[in-house]
Amino acid sequence: MRRNFILLVGIASALILIYNGCTHKPMDIIPFPGPDTISCDTTSVTYPGTIYPILEQYCIECHSGPAPTGNLDYTDYSQVAYVAANGMLLSAIKHEGGLVPMPFERDPLDSCRIRQIEIWIRDTTFVRIGQEFEITLEQLNNRTIEQ
Ligand code: HEC
Repeated sequence: MRRNFILLVGIASALILIYNGCTHKPMDIIPFPGPDTISCDTTSVTYPGTIYPILEQYCIECHSGPAPTGNLDYTDYSQVAYVAANGMLLSAIKHEGGLVPMPFERDPLDSCRIRQIEIWIRDTTFVRIGQEFEITLEQLNNRTIEQ
């Protein structure tokens, strides 16, 4: 009798183990998409549509106003173009090149936003006019970059 009981408990435990092992809870199958897993639009990157909104959300709070940090005011396009053209913008957000990592003392940008900034810089011709950087109107106004 005692042996049968132990056998029964054994079988029941095995069944529970097998059952749990095969169970997929909804949370396992549908993970909440993190910033790096949602689709990343790299085919229609524009300054006004893609890049400025990133700066507005993550940078302009410190880099604007009468005394912008690092002396960089990103509401002024020529100052964004300046750090884009000389490589500082990308080095700061990719935490490379010994620059102070940006955003300052916060989590880095997700890989999608870094990639979008990279694509914009790669595909923009920055022209130096006097001490300022300018780009053509065509580049500024909803320029679509084909991949
Ligand atoms: C919380 C405030 C804050 C935020 C947000 C912030 N910055 Fe900065 N940034 C600073 C400060 C402070 C400095 C000056 C650091 C130094 O020279 O010590 C700086 C300097 C820089 C520099 C010059 C780096 C150097 O080593 O000279 C770049 C480029 C820059 N920031 C880009 C960005 C970008 C791009 C973002 C948004 C993704 C951003 N920052 C967000 C505070 C901030």
